Amino acid sequence: VTPSSPGLKPDEDAYGQIYLALLEGERPQEIMERDDGLIYAGDPADYFAPYRRWPSHEKRAMRWVRGRVLDAGCGAGRVSLHLQERGHDVVAIDESPLAVEVARRRGVRQAAVRRVTDLSPAERPFDTILLLRNNVGLAGDDAAIPSLLGRLHELATARGRIITDSVFPERIDDPHYWTYRLPDGTTTRTANPRYRVRWQHFATPWFRYLILNPETFAARLAGSGWHIRAVIDTGAPRYNLVLERARGRSAGRSI
Ligand SMILES: C[S@@+](CC[C@H](N)C(=O)[O-])C[C@H]1O[C@@H](n2cnc3c(N)ncnc32)[C@H](O)[C@@H]1O
Repeated sequence: VTPSSPGLKPDEDAYGQIYLALLEGERPQEIMERDDGLIYAGDPADYFAPYRRWPSHEKRAMRWVRGRVLDAGCGAGRVSLHLQERGHDVVAIDESPLAVEVARRRGVRQAAVRRVTDLSPAERPFDTILLLRNNVGLAGDDAAIPSLLGRLHELATARGRIITDSVFPERIDDPHYWTYRLPDGTTTRTANPRYRVRWQHFATPWFRYLILNPETFAARLAGSGWHIRAVIDTGAPRYNLVLERARGRSAGRSI
């Protein structure tokens, strides 16, 4: 891949610090902060989970992987490691310098500090591009999704696929999620919040999550050059999507 970008500043590398702590046998927490002050704490051990412990929709999504793979936002490299073992040529990128260090130490052979938006079409094209665990939010903003997807179009081969995921909003039953606090103290149900991940004194830049059901997701793809080829729904809140280059077809197949 093209020369390294500097990636996140050290005090922004909360994800990387979490992965490093896990690698060193500590028990960090992934603290997610929403921009109205709501916080969640999650167990980041999932980011190290071997394939056999992945949720079934993710295992099924792996059946759609073919050829040369870009694992964008690779984290600690769990998916890259699995696909390397299966014999794929995998390039892993992450904006977190420590994530890339951890992924390399865990055995990912080609890992680089890079933002998805920094990749140039001069790269050898990829047959499969992974944006896993809400990484379409890597676009930065809803408005930036078409340009991210356009960029990925340039990076993909003619038979290129994107494998990504989202969450069914209608399956989120946590009332706190649905209660967004406005600056004047009142609350609203509808919002387009930003999030950041914190750990100790580290905090990532603010980002957005795409929490869209497949129908809304499909609508966002209009004009992007991609369409939904498959929806992998096992009844969990999170589901996977396989996107392929649009050739006039539009309806996705539910499997
Ligand atoms: C929720 S973690 C998911 C990690 C991995 N995909 C997995 O499924 O285990 C998201 C990762 O995306 C990285 N990331 C966020 N924005 C990025 C960007 N614009 N470019 C590259 N990586 C990014 C973060 O540093 C973090 O490691």
